Amino acid sequence: MAYSQQDVLAALKGVQDPDLHRDLVELGMIQDVRISGRDVAFTLMLTTPACPLKEKMRRDCEEAVRRNLPELGKLDIKMTANVARDRALQEQELIPQVKNTIAVSSGKGGVGKTTVAVNLAIGLQQTGAAVGLLDCDIYGPNVPTMMGVHALPPQRGKKIVPPVAHGVSVMSMGFFLQPDEPVVWRGPMLHNVIRQFLGDLDWGELDYLVIDLPPGTGDAQLTLSQLIPLTGVVIVTTPQDVALLDARKGLAMFQKVNAPVLGIVENMSYYQCPKCGNREDIFSHGGGEKAAVSLGVPFLGAIPLQLSIREAGDAGRPILAVAPGSAEGQAFQRMVEAVAQQVSIANLAEAAGVQG
Ligand SMILES: Nc1ncnc2c1ncn2[C@@H]1O[C@H](COP(=O)(O)OP(=O)(O)OP(=O)(O)O)[C@@H](O)[C@H]1O
Ligand SMILES: [Mg+2]
Repeated sequence: MAYSQQDVLAALKGVQDPDLHRDLVELGMIQDVRISGRDVAFTLMLTTPACPLKEKMRRDCEEAVRRNLPELGKLDIKMTANVARDRALQEQELIPQVKNTIAVSSGKGGVGKTTVAVNLAIGLQQTGAAVGLLDCDIYGPNVPTMMGVHALPPQRGKKIVPPVAHGVSVMSMGFFLQPDEPVVWRGPMLHNVIRQFLGDLDWGELDYLVIDLPPGTGDAQLTLSQLIPLTGVVIVTTPQDVALLDARKGLAMFQKVNAPVLGIVENMSYYQCPKCGNREDIFSHGGGEKAAVSLGVPFLGAIPLQLSIREAGDAGRPILAVAPGSAEGQAFQRMVEAVAQQVSIANLAEAAGVQG
């Protein structure tokens, strides 16, 4: 006997997206079902190439098909991704080709926002997504140093095309500021500057635009969330109590302006000796996770305090670009997947009309 497309879809019924607990078939994630006698092939269309659960989903599909189609011959499941688009971004004109915006923020300065932002951008790109990185820290733009790109290349068209570093399109206010020139933009002026800056850029099609914010809860954050819808905000904190308290403040601010908080990353969480592997909790590790639980937001991962991370950042070659397989690189990779997962959940929940 030969199977039909209907048989395959029926066999997959009950296989759910582990985050949304809804049928993959219903969510339209099973596509391109092809049958040849008893051989079956289909595509599992993920909402992000950085999906941390993709292997589980593939296994679940495979098991269901084998269980329900006892005469099955060959099974070929292709995995691909079409990054879901934040609907709110479709309704604005400033960055029409960007599917999702992820702001990286913190209550306190120096906790590692820029380090997290550059590695998040590179990590997403490494999974196959098209990624941009926007440095909105007009008070101390560090993205150029960490990405190792210091100026705009010569431009041809009317719009400014961001330079590409480590596979990521990079734009920084720092490209336009004189070094050592104090920046005193406030309120409406800042609003206009950021607006014009964004309007002059041609990012091309982007799955994710990662935005590095200055610390705190001031004008730049508010301006940005008024100008472009933020798909979500990643809050970076260190384990110390003060940093956590400030993270709480940041959280409250973004909740006020309706920018969904994707979760908390705990940076400088612990120290792992590169020689013996011994792990030490220098700043009483675990506070970020506790704070996430008590604030009711996801915990996106813990990043160790590691000399290699600082050196890589200083050298303009972030750790995920140079040592993705190292323990600290893997910690960043897990964070990247957790962030992508939360973005997908937010978009799918919105599309399905489910509470996110
Ligand atoms: N996990 C880490 N291990 C070691 N060094 C780190 C780590 N995270 C950040 N650093 C270093 O700490 C310093 C501050 O980090 P970073 O610039 O990313 O913080 P920030 O929150 O963006 O600061 P600012 O508030 O000034 O923008 C940098 O020198 C960076 O290389
Ligand atoms: Mg910074």
